[in-house]
Amino acid sequence: MGLARRALRLVTGHPLSALLPEHRLRFDADALATWGTDRTSSFGVAPGCIAFPESVSEVQAIVRAARAHGLGIVPSGGRTGLSGGAVAGHGEVVLSLDRMNHILGFNPTDRLVTCQAGVITQNLQEYAQARGLCYPVEFASAGSSHIGGNIATNAGGIKVIRYGMTRDWVAGLSVVAGTGALMHLNGGLVKNNTGYDFRHLFIGSEGTLGVIVEAQMRLTTAPAEQSVLVMGVRTLADVLSALARLRAAVDLSAFEFFSELCLRKVIAHKAVQRPLSEAAPFYALVEFDQSAQAQVFEAFEALCAQGLALDGVLSQSRAQARSLWYLREAISESLAPEHPYKNDVSVCIEDVPEFLDDVSELVNSAYPHFEVCWYGHIGDGNLHLNILKPADLSDAQFYEQCHAISPALFELVQARNGSVSAEHGVGLLKRDFLRYSRSEEEIEAMRGVKAVFDPDGIMNPGKLL
Ligand code: MLT
Ligand code: ZN
Repeated sequence: MGLARRALRLVTGHPLSALLPEHRLRFDADALATWGTDRTSSFGVAPGCIAFPESVSEVQAIVRAARAHGLGIVPSGGRTGLSGGAVAGHGEVVLSLDRMNHILGFNPTDRLVTCQAGVITQNLQEYAQARGLCYPVEFASAGSSHIGGNIATNAGGIKVIRYGMTRDWVAGLSVVAGTGALMHLNGGLVKNNTGYDFRHLFIGSEGTLGVIVEAQMRLTTAPAEQSVLVMGVRTLADVLSALARLRAAVDLSAFEFFSELCLRKVIAHKAVQRPLSEAAPFYALVEFDQSAQAQVFEAFEALCAQGLALDGVLSQSRAQARSLWYLREAISESLAPEHPYKNDVSVCIEDVPEFLDDVSELVNSAYPHFEVCWYGHIGDGNLHLNILKPADLSDAQFYEQCHAISPALFELVQARNGSVSAEHGVGLLKRDFLRYSRSEEEIEAMRGVKAVFDPDGIMNPGKLL
């Protein structure tokens, strides 16, 4: 097998063959299928090869060679993306950061961890915890997503209401731009007013400007013990009333919601029980410091008295808190077998109630034959609306139908200056809809920025713009 592959490569003379040992440049079908895509299923997957660099200089050499030969590069992290940002569909080189997965150092004074881009999120979280600190960005795919991918997509997750997005925790970046140049951006400084902060351009750039190779991530104080309340509510408007009431009473660490249909999907796929004895149309999951239990309880009782909450369950131990969280965190995985068309929209929290009314009306008229799952980070104004694929439609048919309806939803988003991609990124899925959230002038300026860092357009071609 080794000989056959070597022979193939001598025949094809791939431009990267001289740069990496044979086992770190793969052309086999298994590798192409695995590393050529992310968690989406609607896009064609056809990468040219998969490269596994182990050092910054190897990344630079790959980018320079790709540039010289006009090859596209798709940077690839944990491949947990939901918008096709890491899909290689046109013979690109997939540059996997899997082997650049080391934590390089810790600066306790500044609470900074220097990570290679391929460090798995959970490993950084555990590293912080072992030092009595916390890396607070949290989401269900933390066990496989990479820090580099989190930065490239400015990942959000379930604690944004308290801790913000990945952007808030990036103190420095090292990147290899599409030119092959290595740049060290900000170097961990708290204060640095020396002009444009390119670090922030690379955060959320989805691999279109270059490859993030290293990052200095800031840590914070470990949180107090947390409690979780799950309550049943009748309407989406009631979810928001509960948010307002609870937020006025305590500092929240999370405020999530999901519909009964989501819960049913989780129960069908995982060994879990209903949280409440009676089903409710919607559920809100609230996390807060355990020391605030009394205030939360009082607010909850007031909500019940007003008919805004139907019933609730409050965790009495860490294990119970974890199982309540699981009901929310397992939604994405439980819906995956039904190949959902994912919407990930946001508006200002003030606009959420009216926005929800309009979206409900649209969903009822536009998707009468599809199952629609509502869930998300409603405390951040971020709604995930997943349309499930009926078994009798092909992926392509279903994608086309949903894509055709999307403009109506995005008009509602645009009317409120909202975002068509609150946290999953634009990738391929939302590329055609970018103009609903960004003006023509902004998109033109984005193209200009790309041309500076990636003049030959080799970095993640076709994504975002
Ligand atoms: C979530 O909130 O569960 C994640 O963004 C993943 C998803 O929406 O499927
Ligand atoms: Zn989410």
